[in-house]
Amino acid sequence: MRVLALSSGTSVDAIDVALADLDDAGGVVRMRTLAHTERGWPPPLRARILAALPPAATDLGEVCRLDTEIGQAFGDVGAWAIGAWGAVDLVVSHGQTVHHWVEPVPDGGAGVDGAGGGRARGTLQLGAAAWIAARTARPVIHDLRTADIAAGGQGAPLVSLLDALWLADRPTAALNIGGIANITLVGDGVVRTGDTGPGNCLLDAAVSTHTGRAFDPDGALAGAGRVDQGALAALLADPYYARPLPKSTGRETFDGGYVSVVLSAAGVAVPSGNDLFATLTELTVRTIAEAIGRDGPRTERVVVSGGGVRNATLMAGLRSRLPGLVTSDTLGLAAEAKEAYLFALLGYLSARGLPGTAPAGGRRRATGASSAVVLGSLTPPAPAPCPPGRVPVHRLVLEEG
Ligand SMILES: Nc1ncnc2c1ncn2[C@@H]1O[C@H](COP(=O)(O)OP(=O)(O)O)[C@@H](O)[C@H]1O
Ligand SMILES: [Mg+2]
Repeated sequence: MRVLALSSGTSVDAIDVALADLDDAGGVVRMRTLAHTERGWPPPLRARILAALPPAATDLGEVCRLDTEIGQAFGDVGAWAIGAWGAVDLVVSHGQTVHHWVEPVPDGGAGVDGAGGGRARGTLQLGAAAWIAARTARPVIHDLRTADIAAGGQGAPLVSLLDALWLADRPTAALNIGGIANITLVGDGVVRTGDTGPGNCLLDAAVSTHTGRAFDPDGALAGAGRVDQGALAALLADPYYARPLPKSTGRETFDGGYVSVVLSAAGVAVPSGNDLFATLTELTVRTIAEAIGRDGPRTERVVVSGGGVRNATLMAGLRSRLPGLVTSDTLGLAAEAKEAYLFALLGYLSARGLPGTAPAGGRRRATGASSAVVLGSLTPPAPAPCPPGRVPVHRLVLEEG
């Protein structure tokens, strides 16, 4: 089955697109990675998405407009990809996350039912799938996260099954550094997964505010600064980091105002210029390294992906703390496209009626869900083909029961 996946992460940097050919037999799923690239957002649309995110207030009219226009933008990218790469059987759209609703456990303790990292209550990815179906004329699987939340899971990260199927031959931490960073621990007993906290999102926001750039190119600005230890300690005190897996978070927590709010509450001045960027980069390094050290102490290998791979300062910090760090490219999945290929896999599994999260003992899943669920919602292809031999519906007979 040729599956085209479309996604955008919390960085809102680009629409990622990947084409894979998948099949499965005897419990073995095969994914041939055929093509991937990223396509830029229409700049005004990207600016409006960022402007709508917390701490900004937004209204339902703008949510409706964004849902429509993101769906149209994804549909355009899907149509472009089909034109460039050939016909597909199925389109999978992650959409654009604009809110991930997690209620924290107040005491930060073990909580109940494995929800010590907080209980996810809902999640919202915009990008109305009907527009994607209209522009690609293919069925679209979308809203991949809600079914896991409905089963008691975090709904994020959703990468546990891919990592477990792919990397479990020895104790491994799969690490993806997008706007939010996440880990999956495989190959050492029960699979565990969760968001470690900010990946690039706080750094991107600070760099944007102070320099107007979208991100710190190759980590050069942070590399020229010094870590402010007082500010770092205040930021590391956020109770999120100590919470157990599974757990998930998003930009509604680590938002554009987060750093100044936390530091002013701690009575610590916001570092200036490059020192701020160095401090936020080190926050990402420390929270990732400490999460892997605490939850995966026997980790032999860290397989890293996501845009953070291109930040040399961040990668140098991670290498100094995590032995056995390799990028996912070395094992066959391009670092910048792992997430898009993940959604191709999840969409394929959903189309086959198979669950999309890793088992984690008994009926429990790595996301914290209490049962295995098939992920996603299905939007039929448009225009809906009328199967041969079937007459279109033309009359309704109402009967009282
Ligand atoms: N050349 C680069 N130098 C430094 N950071 C980069 C570079 N390219 C991408 N990034 C970082 O990667 C982010 C995008 O990574 P990505 O994996 O797409 O995140 P997300 O899944 O949140 O969209 C950018 O916002 C930026 O922080
Ligand atoms: Mg991205």
